[in-house]
Amino acid sequence: MPVSHLFIEAAFCQATPRPPVWMMRQAGRFMKEYWAIKEKYTFLEMVKIPEIAADVTMLPVDLLGIDAAIMFCDILVTAEAMGGGLSFHAGQGPKFSNPVRTAADIAALRIPDIYESLGYVAEMIKIVQERLNNSIPLIGFAGAPFTVMSYLVEGESSKDFKITKLLMNNHPALAHSLLEKITRVTIDYLNLQIKAGVNAIQIFDSWAGALSWDDYEEFSHRYIKQIIAEVRVEGIPIISFCKGSSVFAPMMAAAKPDVISVDWNADLPSLKKSLPSGIAVQGNLDPFVLYADKSVIKKKIYHLFDRMEKENGFIFNLGHGIMPDIPFDNVKYAIDIVKEYSYKKLV
Ligand code: CP3
Repeated sequence: MPVSHLFIEAAFCQATPRPPVWMMRQAGRFMKEYWAIKEKYTFLEMVKIPEIAADVTMLPVDLLGIDAAIMFCDILVTAEAMGGGLSFHAGQGPKFSNPVRTAADIAALRIPDIYESLGYVAEMIKIVQERLNNSIPLIGFAGAPFTVMSYLVEGESSKDFKITKLLMNNHPALAHSLLEKITRVTIDYLNLQIKAGVNAIQIFDSWAGALSWDDYEEFSHRYIKQIIAEVRVEGIPIISFCKGSSVFAPMMAAAKPDVISVDWNADLPSLKKSLPSGIAVQGNLDPFVLYADKSVIKKKIYHLFDRMEKENGFIFNLGHGIMPDIPFDNVKYAIDIVKEYSYKKLV
């Protein structure tokens, strides 16, 4: 059920009195309340117990007053549902016990029944929507096929994606068969989220910035385009995020998302002007600004807003996620600053 709200209006390029605000990784480790829950459960338990995932989703709603909630989950649950064997170890990030590197490995991956394997996400969405009670929209999400593939192939986080690129370069047909499988599951998964009641979707292609232009087109863009076409529902905006969007924005726009989420390299007003009309932008404060003095935080946010005010279709966010050691107080301050702002053109 679509919620009428600032965030949805901005996502569809309608005029708003101020930019709506939410922050990537807003439900996370920079909050002591997150750690209080984490003491009792592992990360994957937090994700898979619908009541707990709903509690974590609600933390930034209750403590920060953001304009959109994002469901608490992880982009790697699709890869786990396919049989990757996912675990998280403190300080080391995700690990897959069965890295996928050969034709046999790819063939062994399942296309799971989505309700059987990821039904816990649908249950969590329903609980969160009851608690939100139409106050603000709920964003669902999934990883983009390239980024999810990189974890499955490397078996863990990677700095250079060496094994993934070797697969793409030496065995492109194999890479495509893996991407096709992930794409199928991602489409089913996002449709499950939409049926369960999310109000918007974000596709995270976190590591696409490691790709050349041609490789982005061949191994990422075409699958994102297919996903967007197959999950499109009227009234539910689709946000396309990648680290590297400063470069790839024109191609991202060709996949027809409603919103492009921009990293902090680009001058946002110029990038917005370069896009086809009707595509909104989200971003793009360097998250490291949130370590700085409050006067600096305010100056940088207002500088961005002053230059964006003639542009309908702007959602304030960071260029990437909040780091775990950013002071909570600074995050709260940044959100309060946004909510106090009012576009001069409307005053
Ligand atoms: O934004 C939110 O608050 C919603 C929740 C969310 C998480 N992961 C929770 C999480 C979202 C949207 C994600 C997406 C995600 N997961 C991405 C794309 C986002 C991006 O920033 O580009 C990626 C690449 C992952 C994979 C992943 N999950 C990694 C690499 C790690 C370890 C990272 C690290 O910094 O240690 C995770 C774990 C994870 N996902 C945590 C959280 C809160 C930390 C778990 C813990 O408590 O230890």
